[in-house]
Amino acid sequence: MIRSVIYVDLDTTLHSLDKRVYGQFVEHLGRCIYGGIWVGENSTIPNVNGHRLDVLEAIKAIKPPVVRWPGGNFVSQYHWMDGIGPRDKRPKRFDLAWGQVEPNEFGTDEYIEWVRLIGAEPFIVVNAGNGTPEEAAAWVEYCNSTRDTHYANLRKRYGHPEPYNVKLWGIGNELWGRWQVGFCRDAEECAWRTVQFADHMKRVDSSIKLVAVGVDYDPEWNIDMIRIAGEYIDYLSIHTYIFTDRQGKTYEDLVAWPIAIEENLKHIYITIEQTRHRYRVKKEIKIAFDEWNVWYPEAQPPYLEQITSVKDAIFTALVLNALQRLSNIVPIATFAQTVNVLPLILTKENKILLTPQYLVFKLYTEITEGNVVAVDTISPHYISKELGLAVPYIDASAIHHQNKVYLFAVNRHPDEEAEIAIHIKSFTPIAVHHKYIAGTSINDKNTFEEPNKVKIEEKNYKFSETIKLPPHSVNMLILS
Ligand code: AHR
Repeated sequence: MIRSVIYVDLDTTLHSLDKRVYGQFVEHLGRCIYGGIWVGENSTIPNVNGHRLDVLEAIKAIKPPVVRWPGGNFVSQYHWMDGIGPRDKRPKRFDLAWGQVEPNEFGTDEYIEWVRLIGAEPFIVVNAGNGTPEEAAAWVEYCNSTRDTHYANLRKRYGHPEPYNVKLWGIGNELWGRWQVGFCRDAEECAWRTVQFADHMKRVDSSIKLVAVGVDYDPEWNIDMIRIAGEYIDYLSIHTYIFTDRQGKTYEDLVAWPIAIEENLKHIYITIEQTRHRYRVKKEIKIAFDEWNVWYPEAQPPYLEQITSVKDAIFTALVLNALQRLSNIVPIATFAQTVNVLPLILTKENKILLTPQYLVFKLYTEITEGNVVAVDTISPHYISKELGLAVPYIDASAIHHQNKVYLFAVNRHPDEEAEIAIHIKSFTPIAVHHKYIAGTSINDKNTFEEPNKVKIEEKNYKFSETIKLPPHSVNMLILS
């Protein structure tokens, strides 16, 4: 048994939660779109206008506030006009990014219909790889314009008289990497390219918000991007994957990584602020953490499939705790990815599988508004050899909303239960609704054969100042 103290200070609000930190990302890659999200109207798999119904319902249940599309690497060679108009007339293309055949059955109109069905805000990334600023501006016109002009009229002709009002747009994806079609030579080139794209796109709709390519481990890249393109952009895109095949990475290292991620995001924000001040960039710029996940060696192109377990659920919950704490400087985060690719949700023919990581999103998105309040945790530690860090076994974050405290507490300990003394300033709870995900071991997974091995469990009890958290568990305590 480990002992810990959590002190929640309801008198100190850090910021109000930006629910967009619970966003998702879907890409034309492997079986994410085709077979995962889209099966077509003639499929024997139940669907709504071609959108796969079981996946639609599962995604609705985790209430993503925003969904990024169409890539990822895919977007750097995607020409959006291939994906509009009568479906039987759309060209099949060879996808230069992933080496697949892109049938273009799912395009802008299908994506917009799908995000509306799940109740999310669209977030479209434009092709800044082998695409042009004109093509990107035409996409903004197609989506947002009411004018009597070519691309707006195309949208109307294809059955959508009202504009889609897509507010959030990304300019390119990972243009610093040689794997990216149309990659940039260096940050300066990418920043000037970003300026041209932003300028073209904003001439069509000045109200749009733009996300520019940043790097998680290269401050010099980020400095050049802010220095050159700062007045044109609203967010810097940051991606982080934890590759679990690195030699010697243990469970303890994996669940230590969210600390490094949180620190890194804070450092990137400091770099943004320092650069803005140094170069007198007036525009406020925040971070869009628009790809993040664990990545196992079995997740290989072109499918990138993996089935994650309780340990990955713990990693995911720890990142979400960090994102709650950072949501004033990282207001947007999109998990990579939602369906079949590094997935939260897997499909096999007409079956669907919800992973423990999915269950974490289910738990956390129960409350998507409120104030993130100050929390201090005193906990025993262990040492992560990979990161050289002292890691507390317990991590906690809290949201205060309408006379309830939602305490998100993770017990990293692989074997021991945690006894937590909870102190809340300015609030005396009476009841606890305790929901948690733990399974029976850190390696427990859900499979098509045993889909409910790991589930959300719950209990209700009277509040007493000591609460127990199971070993290797993700917990939400609703204190009222
Ligand atoms: O999410 C899979 C891929 O990982 C994305 O296409 C790319 O942006 C990243 O490198």
